Amino acid sequence: MSLIEEVMRRQAHERAAMPGGLAANSGAGASAARVARSVVAPAPEAPIQEYRPATVDPEALERNRVLLRVQDVAVSRAYKILRTRVLHRMTANNWYTLGVTGTGAGEGKTITAINLAIALAQDPNAWVFLVDLDLQRPQLGAYLGMSYEYGLTDYLTGQAQLEQVVYDIGIKRLAVVPNSSPVETSSEHLRSAKMTDFINALEGQSPRRYVILDMPPINVSDDVLAFAPRVDSFLLIASQGITARRTLANAKEVLSELNVLGVVLNRSTERNDSPYY
Ligand SMILES: Nc1ncnc2c1ncn2[C@@H]1O[C@H](COP(=O)(O)OP(=O)(O)O)[C@@H](O)[C@H]1O
Ligand SMILES: [Mg+2]
Repeated sequence: MSLIEEVMRRQAHERAAMPGGLAANSGAGASAARVARSVVAPAPEAPIQEYRPATVDPEALERNRVLLRVQDVAVSRAYKILRTRVLHRMTANNWYTLGVTGTGAGEGKTITAINLAIALAQDPNAWVFLVDLDLQRPQLGAYLGMSYEYGLTDYLTGQAQLEQVVYDIGIKRLAVVPNSSPVETSSEHLRSAKMTDFINALEGQSPRRYVILDMPPINVSDDVLAFAPRVDSFLLIASQGITARRTLANAKEVLSELNVLGVVLNRSTERNDSPYY
């Protein structure tokens, strides 16, 4: 039996042994999942499993520019182009995790991660997890106005099980992992075996999931670099009028060993309202 066949057989066996499907997959299983990545295609027609329901607040969505139904043609087009480019690159490379980061606070990482995840989930072939990985300054749940009991830190500190922190917010093919308790020792948590198990469990679901990680900026802590080995690709967010060109160039250098899909220019004053292009 070839290595790949052996990996696929073992994965099928592991999946069958785990009720509910949110199976933590660590140690040898984790590296096995990485090998199998190149041969196991996602099966979009398979039914998504159920996660804990959580409500969102329509006023919070509007206030925070979460784009459930985009009226603005130029904005809608920009997110669709971003979605399609990200999907192309990730599919071509068998990448499943995407870290959204930048150089400093307030550049629009969180809002881009949310709107990109929503746009991705609108593609019938993409199943998406959106995870708040800004452990020192979690904001995802607040931006969505989510009501929920446990967040990612509760799982990392052993106060909640994995399946207790994954929520269905009523958007098809999207599940959200929010967080409400900031932790000081964030990079230690990000390097922990529990965190690796968590991402493996999300990403290894069947059908395969794209995991969008709302991350902190790279210039304020070592969090992004601490978790980088577990992230397939990155998107850098820069904000017109906020991000200095030199800072951005430094960031690209810091991340040069990693797969940076590109830079998103947020708050751009350039618009394209042409009806055709
Ligand atoms: N393109 C934009 N236009 C207007 N406001 C924006 C835009 N992008 C972000 N913001 C606002 O700026 C603030 C910071 O955005 P956020 O996504 O939290 O940044 P980060 O995660 O990089 O710290 C939020 O209040 C957000 O609503
Ligand atoms: Mg943020």
